[in-house]
Amino acid sequence: MTILVTGGAGYIGSHMVLKLLEVSQAVVVLDNLTTGFRAQVPAEVPFIEGNVNDAALVAKIISEHNIEAVIHFAGSIIVPESVENPLKYYANNTANSRALIEACVAGGVKHFIFSSTAAVYGDPAVVPVCEDSDLKPLSPYGTSKLMTEMMLHDVAAAHDFNFVALRYFNVAGADPQGRTGQSTANATHLIKVACQAALGLRPSMSIFGDDYDTPDGTGLRDYIHVSDLADAHYCAIKYLQGGGDSQIFNCGYGHGYSVHEVVASVKRVSGVDFKVVMEPRRAGDSPKVIAENSRILDVLKWQASYDDLDVIVAHALAWEKKIHQE
Ligand code: UFG
Repeated sequence: MTILVTGGAGYIGSHMVLKLLEVSQAVVVLDNLTTGFRAQVPAEVPFIEGNVNDAALVAKIISEHNIEAVIHFAGSIIVPESVENPLKYYANNTANSRALIEACVAGGVKHFIFSSTAAVYGDPAVVPVCEDSDLKPLSPYGTSKLMTEMMLHDVAAAHDFNFVALRYFNVAGADPQGRTGQSTANATHLIKVACQAALGLRPSMSIFGDDYDTPDGTGLRDYIHVSDLADAHYCAIKYLQGGGDSQIFNCGYGHGYSVHEVVASVKRVSGVDFKVVMEPRRAGDSPKVIAENSRILDVLKWQASYDDLDVIVAHALAWEKKIHQE
């Protein structure tokens, strides 16, 4: 039995591949390398460069490698870009997922894990937000992911196929052993930006808004270590193989940190008092996005290993140093 990981050369996908190797699970990677890096996939893993909507290619991979399950990370992930270019997101996240799911059903793949996002909730009215809350994405990115969740729901009802969709909260950090991390250029995510400021790779960083209705006025987010997220996918695979019902799970720690707290952590861990500039609120930001995570804890028995902001920051910082020394 082999697992196909799409987007396995990307940030989260590459951590998933390491997890599967650690448990001696056979794995194949399909990635078109638009944003992924070939070097982030270990040499011993079969690697196919190609698109998830290439039905003939996916059919060939499924039959040649006897694929039982697919973990689908490949997609586009930049919220503002999705507002400017929605059709790119409906192509990469919705239409291409549809093509992949069709090839999976045709090829007899039994289990499917999908990378969804907390962006499906938009600006949640109640925080921590649970899976059954209103779904009101504020961007084409969130909508493009929600549409794929809906397709999976219908396909699982009609075919011998079960799925888990994991709604990621704020993914951060890097492999504790420094083998992979987030390498994408033009970072906008808070922890990566702050690490770059600490390393002098940018002259300063900005805090977008300190007048929110939160304890210190800055935005609250549920930062989850990328290796814990990979573990959650592994729990989901086991659950589906055990005959679990198709299900959607929030993937976060259930508590959050403010932007000020994150900046303080990066200063503490790096030992650098970098320059921070206060700016107005960034368009589209919610004050608080925190997961209600009892479903994933109860059903998948997922246990976090890195629920510690300084640890997440230390791993992100180590990776950032490494890629800028190369
Ligand atoms: N922030 C700053 N300065 C920065 C970057 C971010 O102050 O330079 C603040 C933001 O205003 C926000 C918090 O830090 O309050 C986190 O921002 P990120 O850009 O790191 O992450 P987001 O919460 O905006 O986005 C995340 C995921 C998206 C997902 C979204 C849904 O990265 O993929 O949550 O809630 F869609």
